[in-house]
Amino acid sequence: MAAQDQPNFYVTTPIYYVNDKPHIGHAYTTLACDVLARFKRLDGYNVMFLTGTDEHGQKVEKAAGDKGVSPQAFTDSVSQNFRDLTGRMNFSNDDFIRTTEPRHREACQKLWDMLVERGHITLGSYAGWYAVRDEAFYTETEIVDGKAPTGAPVEWVEEPSYFFDLSKWQEPLLAFYEANPDFVGPVSRFNEVKSFVKGGLRDLSVSRASFSWGVPVPRDDAHVMYVWLDALTNYMTATGWPIDGSFGDADKHKSFWPADLHMVGKDILRFHAVYWPAFLMAAGLPLPKRVFAHGWWTNEGEKISKSLGNVIDPNQLADEYGLDQTRYFLMREVPFGKDGDFSKMAMINRMNSDLANDLGNLSQRVISMIFKNCNGVSPALPNNPQPEDVALLASVDALLNIVRSHMDQQAFHEGLREIWQVISDANRYVDGTAPWGLKKTDPDRMGEVLAVLAETIRQIAILVQPVMPEAASKILDQLAVTDEERDFTYAGGSVRFAAGREITKPEPVFPRYIVDEEEKGSA
Ligand code: MSP
Repeated sequence: MAAQDQPNFYVTTPIYYVNDKPHIGHAYTTLACDVLARFKRLDGYNVMFLTGTDEHGQKVEKAAGDKGVSPQAFTDSVSQNFRDLTGRMNFSNDDFIRTTEPRHREACQKLWDMLVERGHITLGSYAGWYAVRDEAFYTETEIVDGKAPTGAPVEWVEEPSYFFDLSKWQEPLLAFYEANPDFVGPVSRFNEVKSFVKGGLRDLSVSRASFSWGVPVPRDDAHVMYVWLDALTNYMTATGWPIDGSFGDADKHKSFWPADLHMVGKDILRFHAVYWPAFLMAAGLPLPKRVFAHGWWTNEGEKISKSLGNVIDPNQLADEYGLDQTRYFLMREVPFGKDGDFSKMAMINRMNSDLANDLGNLSQRVISMIFKNCNGVSPALPNNPQPEDVALLASVDALLNIVRSHMDQQAFHEGLREIWQVISDANRYVDGTAPWGLKKTDPDRMGEVLAVLAETIRQIAILVQPVMPEAASKILDQLAVTDEERDFTYAGGSVRFAAGREITKPEPVFPRYIVDEEEKGSA
C-alpha cells in the first residue's frame, strides 16, 4: 500500500525533563507508545511516533546551576541520555524533539500570537505559590503542611505575568468531554478530570519574569513562556506546524494533526486533558483525539525516589534480564492504567514461566521436531483436519481482532493475556497429540500436527512483534517466514504456514533466569 492510501496514526510520549537521567517511568511511557506504534505499522498504518525532551523552565535551569554548567550545555548532555535510551530499548520513534530547537521556538511563538490575537492572553501580575519540581502554580487552599498536594516544596512568587483566560473554558471543555466520551482513558481518570473542571477553573499564569531559561514571549523580552505552554506545543511542532513557518510541512501536518493519542503518566493528565485542549480551542485549532494516563511503578513495594536511592535504571534491567524480557514484563505484569510494583521475583517469574516455559519451549520443541523428523523441511497442513486441529487454528485465527481491540483501548496486558491463552491451548494440543509418539506409528499425522503447531506459532510470533521485536523475529526466521510475510495481513487466518521450506536447527530464544541461592534467600 502506498503511504498516501494508508490511514495515519500519530502517537506521542510526554517530553521528558532533562534535570536527571532516564528511569523506569520514562522507559515505561515510551515503551507503551513504541508497542502501539509498531502494532499500527504492522496493521497497515502510516505512523508517526514522537518522543523528546522538555528542556526549559526553572527546574532545568536550577539543575544546570547545581552542576555549574550553562543550561544549554547541560540540556545537550542530558538530552543525549534520553536519545541513547531509545536505542538501548529498541524504541522505533520517528522523531526526537528538543524544546530548545528553533523549529519549536517558532511554533510556541506562533501559538502565543494566535492566543493574543484572539484576546485570550493579557498582562497582569501573579502572586501565589509555585512548585519548581512540578513546574506548577498552586493556590493557598491547595497547600498542605507548607507543601504542594504532590508533596513538592513550594515558593512564594510575586511577579508580572501574562494570563491565559482558562476560566472561560470550563463550559466548552465540559461540552467537549460530553461529546467525546473516549477522550481520556482510563474512565476513572476521565471522571477525575471532569470533576476538576466542574470545580471551576482559574485563569492561568503563562509567563515568568524572574528567570530567562525559556521561549521568549513575543514583543516582551522581560518574560519567558510558562514551561507547560511551551512543552505541550511540541506535539504540534513536530508535525511541521506552523505550516507557513520556516520549518513548516503542510503534508505532514495534515496527515498527523490532530494526534491520535497522547500517552502520559497519571501525574500530568491535567495538563494534557484540561490546559492543552483549552489552549487549542482558544487558538481555534483541532484537539487531540485521546489522552491515556498510565499508573506509576513502585520498586519492591516502595515509592521510587532519588532520596531512597531505589531508582530503577532501564538500561540495567535490559542488561540483567534481556531487552525483550524487560519489555514483555513491563507490558504484561500490570494492568495498563493501574499502578504496579516492580519486583525481582515477579520479573523472573514472568521470564521463566511465560517466556522460557510457555512460548520458548513450545517453539523450540516444535521447530526442533520439524528439523529432526521432517528432513528439515516444513510439513504441510492437513487436508482433512481433525477437530483438535480446527479448534487450535480457530483460536489463533481469532487473535488478531481480539488483540487489535485491546490495543485500541491501550489494554496491552489484556492483549498479551489473550495471546498466552492460545499458547497454553497449543501446549495442551502438543500433550494431546503427542507428535513424538507419532513418528513411528503415523508419520503423516506427525507432519500434520507439527504443521498446525508451526502455523499457530507463526501467527503468535507475528502478533508479539510489537512487544518483543527481536525475539519474534528470531522465531519467524526459524520458521523460514520471509521479511515480507510478517505484517498483520499474514495473521488472522487468510494466509497459512508454507510447506516445503527449509528449516534449520533452532537455537532457544528465551533463556531461563537461574536464581542463585543467595537471591532466593533475599526474595
Ligand atoms: N516534562 C513533563 C512532561 C511534558 S509533556 C508536554 C514531565 N516530565 S517528566 O520527565 O517528569 O515525566 C515524564 C513521565 O514519566 C510522566 O508521564 C510520568 O508519569 C512518568 N513517570 C515518572 N515516574 C514514574 C514512575 N515511578 N512510574 C511510571 N511512570 C512515571 O512530566
